[in-house]
Amino acid sequence: MKTYDIAGKAVLITGASSGIGKALSSCFAEEGARLFLGCHPSEKAALESWMKELRAHFGVLARGFPIDLAADGAPERLYRAVVKNSGRLDVLVNNAGVMAYGNFHELDLERQRRILRVNAEAYLELMHLALRDMTAAGAGRVLNVGSVSAFQPSAHHAVYGATKAFVQGLSEAVNQELRGTGVTVCTLCPSYTDTPLLKGEGFPKRLLWYSVSGLADPETIARKGVRAFKRGKPVYIPGLRNWFIHAVLQRFVPRRLAGALSRLVLK
Ligand SMILES: NC(=O)c1ccc[n+]([C@@H]2O[C@H](COP(=O)([O-])OP(=O)(O)OC[C@H]3O[C@@H](n4cnc5c(N)ncnc54)[C@H](OP(=O)(O)O)[C@@H]3O)[C@@H](O)[C@H]2O)c1
Repeated sequence: MKTYDIAGKAVLITGASSGIGKALSSCFAEEGARLFLGCHPSEKAALESWMKELRAHFGVLARGFPIDLAADGAPERLYRAVVKNSGRLDVLVNNAGVMAYGNFHELDLERQRRILRVNAEAYLELMHLALRDMTAAGAGRVLNVGSVSAFQPSAHHAVYGATKAFVQGLSEAVNQELRGTGVTVCTLCPSYTDTPLLKGEGFPKRLLWYSVSGLADPETIARKGVRAFKRGKPVYIPGLRNWFIHAVLQRFVPRRLAGALSRLVLK
């Protein structure tokens, strides 16, 4: 099977200072990509030191763009800055994400709006900008890092799950619209992964669900994700068990039962 050749491609990865985004940047560097890495401004120093390692280890170009994606106009500023540097963008990896754990009505509304802004609006805006240019060029790839939370209600992190469902629906529909353009949109949908995202304020040390799903390491998720991306898989859920639960079983379990289960196992 012919796979997508990443060597020399200009790749923008958001949220590349930690977790899955950092691991993805390593995989793309290994393939010889030119890296344009986004991070929250508070992580500028961490990203700088990570880029030093990437340059030393893989001999690739790596440039950092510390921009708060929740700020007004930030996705467009990031996109324009990257294109100014790279000439053109070949691959957009929407990865930056935030989460808040707790009951919807008890969590601060502003915090939940921020989740919507980073996990949904920034994805949408960056994808819109990139697809305009990619379709005009007749080539390009978008990889949206979603989650298995997209496929059923996610009690105790309802807004997070809702943003992932939004990204999933948007990506699959847009990917269909793009048929014949030379451009594709893929999603990588991991289950729980051991990153700082799950260690934020209020997040339990352990969810009951971990005994079913396990807790993946970000390097494995990134490696498998990039392999699926190169093969052009439109939707990829790492792990056979996760794929079976979220892509197959969900179709046969009544939505109400899935919701009730999520309330119990995501405690
Ligand atoms: N961990 C999981 O269990 C899991 C499962 C499925 C899907 N995912 C998805 O994987 C993606 C990466 O998450 P992760 O688990 O790797 O968590 P992570 O280590 O916390 O990484 C998230 C990245 O996004 C950045 N970010 C957050 N808010 C930002 C903002 N306003 N502007 C710019 N950058 C911002 C973070 O920067 P800071 O460090 O400065 O906040 C960080 O670099 C997310 O989309 C997440 O939903 C994670």
